Amino acid sequence: MANVFENCLNYGGALHVPVITIDGPTASGKGTVAQRVARHLGFHLLDSGALYRLVALAGLRGGVALDDEASLAKLAAALPCRFSGTAVFLDGEDVSDTIRAEDVGKASSRVAALPAVREALVERQLRFCQQPGLVADGRDMGTVIFPDADLKVFLTASVEARAGRRYKQLIDKGFSANILDLRKDLEERDARDSQRAAAPLKPAPDAYLLDTSDLTIEEGVKQVLEWYRAAKA
Ligand code: CDP
Repeated sequence: MANVFENCLNYGGALHVPVITIDGPTASGKGTVAQRVARHLGFHLLDSGALYRLVALAGLRGGVALDDEASLAKLAAALPCRFSGTAVFLDGEDVSDTIRAEDVGKASSRVAALPAVREALVERQLRFCQQPGLVADGRDMGTVIFPDADLKVFLTASVEARAGRRYKQLIDKGFSANILDLRKDLEERDARDSQRAAAPLKPAPDAYLLDTSDLTIEEGVKQVLEWYRAAKA
């Protein structure tokens, strides 16, 4: 895994490709902040969580047990998926909303704990590293996949704020939701993501920490852009 960033340079060509990583726990706001920062800078966007969600969905649909590491890694390596803007396709079907359902989210955090699944997705993630730049959002973007990123941000927010956001997100998408169940699920997911041996959720030592509990999305985006400008200067 030591040479992943060299691979990133290979994908990006001879010139340095600027990379901003945004990691953090579930519903910390990283997806929305990453999207807006990428749009503002005209950079590509890697929503790495979507890849784990796609593997989970493909596994669930194929009747693969969520602890069958070898079969899930095979699925992950050959995942017939495509990204178009923020839309996500699996086998040609638009699954952008389907992968956001809570059962797929739960399953994705289980498959993401399997080292062979993570390994099978590395190359696919590195391919996003293209000019004019990349904003990568996930759990291990700054620690494992892009360790030499130009700017690393780790977003946090209180459990209350995150459960409230997730509730709103699900209701807006037409899913039903219960805030207490969501909170419990979020805490379980945090524990699994932080305690797993493979690429656990933790800030890179050189990451900027941003608590978004009391920030609007715009304020979060503004802060990340300010840090990026300072890092480039
Ligand atoms: O929306 P939310 O933050 O809950 O999840 P996500 O970013 O879509 O990621 C779904 C799951 O994939 C997470 O619960 C993590 O377990 C896993 N994941 C990961 O392990 N590494 C990443 N780089 C991104 C996501």
